[in-house]
Amino acid sequence: MINERSGVYIDGTFGLGGHSKAISLLLNVDATLIGIDQDESALAQFDPSLIKQTLHLRCTNFENLDQVLNDLKLTQVHGILLDLGLNSFSLDDPERGFAFSLDGPLDMRFDRSNDITAETVINEYSQEQLADIMYRFGEERNSRRIARKIVSMRTNKRLTQIDELREAVAGCVDPRFRNKSLARVFQAFRIEVNREMDVLETVLNTATQVLTPGGRLAVISYHSLEDRMVKNHFRDLSQDIPQQPGMLESEIRIPLFKRITGKPVVATSEEAAVNPRARSAKLRVAERTLHASD
Ligand SMILES: C[S@@+](CC[C@H](N)C(=O)[O-])C[C@H]1O[C@@H](n2cnc3c(N)ncnc32)[C@H](O)[C@@H]1O
Repeated sequence: MINERSGVYIDGTFGLGGHSKAISLLLNVDATLIGIDQDESALAQFDPSLIKQTLHLRCTNFENLDQVLNDLKLTQVHGILLDLGLNSFSLDDPERGFAFSLDGPLDMRFDRSNDITAETVINEYSQEQLADIMYRFGEERNSRRIARKIVSMRTNKRLTQIDELREAVAGCVDPRFRNKSLARVFQAFRIEVNREMDVLETVLNTATQVLTPGGRLAVISYHSLEDRMVKNHFRDLSQDIPQQPGMLESEIRIPLFKRITGKPVVATSEEAAVNPRARSAKLRVAERTLHASD
């Protein structure tokens, strides 16, 4: 790990700035901290005087990380943190439509300036698309049945409220497993609305490009699809593919990362007891390697 406490650090999921405040305490005053969040209401709550380094706050999707760096005329960064998912105040706000236990509109957007909401997806996608989303992004076994139910409900009236989606799911699953199915279905639509898998793939690739040798990328994920993507990215880029006779130049690869965490770091039982949402968190860290082309 580089000993660079004066470098450029990115908190790609700034939220209420809890991680950034902790990172700030570890950095020299001449370091630069960039906080990105696509949720304006999160950034607006932060008091920038709490950070003693140069702080740039940007309200944008972290998939635009390269653009943020371009605008700031920066090319290399020393550390990137992504704490994926949504912040607690959004989860608890019924108006945001994330929690299946609350009553509110079918919204689920992290960025409320986007046009596509859960209402758009639920009313305008085909039955087959709905089933695929629930199966791919929620691993929900009753996806086809639930999709059929949604389509039959929406023929009478456009579905706009969380309780209507709850009713569609509840009508298709065993009451004993209802909450698990609801969690999977809500997760699936949230991933679709926010293009979560696509933007994660983009930011992992950008982070790989912009990290300086010795710089670290740390990702905290909250569901298995995200964690698998991060795990595979680190695994693939930490493998050496040596030259063999007849191999194309494009097939030869020097590892770009060294994995710092083998197994992901998870919350201790004490931490999970005080912060139940940490129960599903998995932290993976990898370090950009030093090699000739750098
Ligand atoms: C789990 S919270 C982070 C909390 C933060 N670490 C803190 O200490 O307060 C995740 C945050 O990332 C934001 N977010 C999620 N996906 C994003 C994306 N693709 N681009 C930018 N921000 C994103 C959410 O709006 C949310 O505020």
